[in-house]
Amino acid sequence: MVLSAIVFVPLLLPLLYFILRPRPVNIPIKDRHVFITGGSSGIGLALAKQAASEGARVTLLARSLDKLEEARKSIRQAYGVDVSIFAADVRDFEAVNRAVIEAGPIDVLIVNHGIFLPQELDKQELDKVRLMIEVNLMGSFNVIKAVLPQMNNRKDKELPLSIALMSSQAGQVLCFNS
Ligand SMILES: NC(=O)c1ccc[n+]([C@@H]2O[C@H](COP(=O)([O-])OP(=O)(O)OC[C@H]3O[C@@H](n4cnc5c(N)ncnc54)[C@H](OP(=O)(O)O)[C@@H]3O)[C@@H](O)[C@H]2O)c1
Repeated sequence: MVLSAIVFVPLLLPLLYFILRPRPVNIPIKDRHVFITGGSSGIGLALAKQAASEGARVTLLARSLDKLEEARKSIRQAYGVDVSIFAADVRDFEAVNRAVIEAGPIDVLIVNHGIFLPQELDKQELDKVRLMIEVNLMGSFNVIKAVLPQMNNRKDKELPLSIALMSSQAGQVLCFNS
């Protein structure tokens, strides 16, 4: 019994890994609605440009209307495509929900917004920790909660609907300096 466990467990593990391993999923975006939070700069803006260049209908949500206008202008200049913009704080569920309803049915949601206020925890003010949690964590729940009902109620589901969350390796690494 022990011997068969010793033989089979090492064989079973690679088999389980092979069956359950994460595989890339191809989500079509051409002529589909891609909604990107934090789409007015950085990675979100780069994703917005990529999506626009591939024929997606793109919507951006962030707080600063000026930055959103600037992002819209740069995409129009580069690709001749107009994107929709919504100024809202992801911490405000009602504002996010209004934007999501006004933007219309979303095929691909990219939850990309985020702030990082780097400091060692013993020196970090708790207000700043709270702010990061409110924006990065609760903001993500707010956005997904606003989008889920319309995704679940969609009748036309021939193509996959998708929600992607931007993360960081910082979430996988715990660092202690003494
Ligand atoms: N850059 C990196 O090296 C790196 C590494 C790992 C992970 N990430 C993650 O990747 C994502 C994008 O990073 P990035 O470097 O491209 O960031 P970024 O250039 O600073 O852009 C952040 C975006 O989020 C928006 N945003 C911030 N707070 C918001 C709020 N309360 N409500 C709505 N929108 C808000 C910003 O616009 P407003 O300020 O106008 O709201 C902006 O559009 C983040 O989630 C970040 O944690 C980045």
